[in-house]
Amino acid sequence: MKYKSIYAIAAMCCLASVQTMAQKTLGEATKGKFLFGTAVNMQQVNGINAAESAIIASEFSAIVPENDMKPQPIHPTEDKFNWDNADKIVAFAEKNKQILTGHCLIWHSQVPNWFFVDAEGKPATPEVLKERMRKHIYAVVGRYKGKIKGWDVVNEAFEDNGTYRNSKFYKILGKDFIKYAFQFAHEADPNAELYYNDYNVETPAKCDAIVQLVKELKAAGLRIDAVGSQSHMHMINPTVEAAETSFKKLKAAGVHILITEWDISILPSPYEGANISTSMAYTKEMDPYRDGVPADVQQKWNKRMLDMFGLFLKYDDVIDRVTVWGVTDNGTWLNGFPIRGRMDYPMLFDRNNKRKPIVDEMIKLTKKYKTIKKK
Ligand code: G3I
Repeated sequence: MKYKSIYAIAAMCCLASVQTMAQKTLGEATKGKFLFGTAVNMQQVNGINAAESAIIASEFSAIVPENDMKPQPIHPTEDKFNWDNADKIVAFAEKNKQILTGHCLIWHSQVPNWFFVDAEGKPATPEVLKERMRKHIYAVVGRYKGKIKGWDVVNEAFEDNGTYRNSKFYKILGKDFIKYAFQFAHEADPNAELYYNDYNVETPAKCDAIVQLVKELKAAGLRIDAVGSQSHMHMINPTVEAAETSFKKLKAAGVHILITEWDISILPSPYEGANISTSMAYTKEMDPYRDGVPADVQQKWNKRMLDMFGLFLKYDDVIDRVTVWGVTDNGTWLNGFPIRGRMDYPMLFDRNNKRKPIVDEMIKLTKKYKTIKKK
């Protein structure tokens, strides 16, 4: 009898811990370490995609608009703002008690052309563009003052070789467009955190250019709280070592780090990075898992997710947020980039809105890392 009751108690304890872990979410498991977020779209925010809307509300401690706060959607013409979607995202975050990040104020993509031309269609003067940037940033940051923890102020201003991207902002204002953007954002909401965001930050030349930018902004007395490493990854690149090297450089530059758009594509990659203007022809070879992912490939992907997540946990003294760029494999941008019409599996929830086993593995992993006090 005595042994039976001990086994029964032991069995009950195991069951209890499995149940607690199953119910636990990544948002909860990473409390005190970093925020765990996701990108959201209006189908989810409006509850049209009810399943994903429910996942977002329960699993994540932070959200970021995938598109609806970008210059094009929110400020399509000089005298017109579209606030509806952004307002709804703010309300959605408040309802779910989630931390909201603004993405993004100044970017060479999804920006309307009126920023850069005068009434005759000729290139705008530096003064005109600077004033248009000020008005845009004051209006958008001002409207959500106190409701947004921080902003991706400038997105993707460097090439992978560390040179400045020759964007229309750069052509007209030179590299100072970045200083103006950070100055205006701070003036519009002095309490908002301000971030520089980019992809392939693990690339040494680009990371060095970003570190130089951080030094120049700080030397100019401008606020920058963190660098956002988008972390759009593939099955091989970037390596854990390359990511860790970039974290060490950014930490040494005196800024915190955000993992802002994390996803690991399981598909063969014709191209590394997230330069949205790149697209390639569809071939069956490049879309090999339409009928599902073979177990050995899934295992490799799981290991890669855990290796990277482990690295994020190791640096939780400077990493303040880890955001995945989507919710389910249905809605990921990677089904359409850089080759349209593929079936990718980069998200934490599958096409049936079911939590993948990797989520519990990641939650288990959080227990292995003592929470390091934030610097
Ligand atoms: O809203 C229009 C809709 O009215 C129109 O009917 C439809 C048809 O073309 O297009 C819709 O706009 C699309 C928009 O997403 C909203 O769904 C754009 O075509 C499409 O290009 C845009 O893609 C977004 C992409 O940024 C644009 O650059 C992706 O959803 C979004 O995931 C992606 O996110 C970027 C980050 O902001 C920055 N880092 C890289 C990352 C991936 O490219």
